[in-house]
Amino acid sequence: MIIQRPRRNRRTPAIRELVRETTLTPNDLIAPLFVRDGKGERTPILSMPGHARLSIDELVKEAKELWSLGIHCVSLFPAIEDAHKTSDAREAWNPENLNHRAVRALKEALPDMLVMGDIALDPYSSDGHDGLVDPKTGEILNDATLEALAKQALASAVAGADILGPSDMMDGRIGHLRRALDGAGHGNVSLMSYTAKYASAFYGPFREALDSAPKKGDKKTYQMDPANGREALREAALDEAEGADILMVKPGLAYLDVVYRLRQASALPIAVYNVSGEYAMVKAAAERGWVDGEKVMMESLVAFKRAGADVILTYFAKEAARLL
Ligand code: PBG
Repeated sequence: MIIQRPRRNRRTPAIRELVRETTLTPNDLIAPLFVRDGKGERTPILSMPGHARLSIDELVKEAKELWSLGIHCVSLFPAIEDAHKTSDAREAWNPENLNHRAVRALKEALPDMLVMGDIALDPYSSDGHDGLVDPKTGEILNDATLEALAKQALASAVAGADILGPSDMMDGRIGHLRRALDGAGHGNVSLMSYTAKYASAFYGPFREALDSAPKKGDKKTYQMDPANGREALREAALDEAEGADILMVKPGLAYLDVVYRLRQASALPIAVYNVSGEYAMVKAAAERGWVDGEKVMMESLVAFKRAGADVILTYFAKEAARLL
């Protein structure tokens, strides 16, 4: 005789809802958005159906719609014109650059919307690297990059960014940025560290969207080796000690074990970045009728929460919020 029958808890929709362990709400989501220059422009990103590079006026419209759907944080990624890209990436801290104009416009239109700014040099670098490159050796220079990132962070804070997301993976950046921000009176600006950011092939569509792929080499001397999980704990301990407010794992689906490990190891909120390639794969398969795109999307998002993420950055944000 079978006494234990787990199926009793799955018998009807009502009982399944009653015993459900994780739920997803639009408040958990951060919408990454791509920005371009111009007016009234929405340039589709071919490998990311449903996404476009938005001029600032269109970005504001989009953000208003997201707000009304319950999404209260957006993360901006500016597509910088080649003419503004240099090897020292100085456009990154130009107060009038595309990113800072976009942040100001958003905060003016939607003061309560959390605006997150990316901290890394790649959109502004003629080398397409997150850090400064030694022209002789090709080495990515850690400590010189920290100085540049601090200038970028201060300019973003002045523009009104609420949260900064250092995605560059330089050593010591969280502490360096925290001190720079606090020293300049920006103690309220949060740091969401890209703590465990892997050297991943899943970033392909994003690099196409920003035309930001490295001109030479790859990012393996600063982004993490996909074979390593324990190393994420070391990065997490450093970020926590250096003053990070939120720890992030990126990409998402192939790294749920890392999300789980950070959840166990830290009391800080954990974020996960469901990246461009993950979005593109679902969209491509759904377009062919090979999977049900909506169901795969919701299953993936709930899996992030089940693994321990509190916050999910996802290109599905608007679509998911509409269904929720
Ligand atoms: C770079 C950056 C990348 C992403 C966010 N910030 C790409 C990279 O490291 O090359 C990827 C996001 C995505 O693929 O959705 N600082």
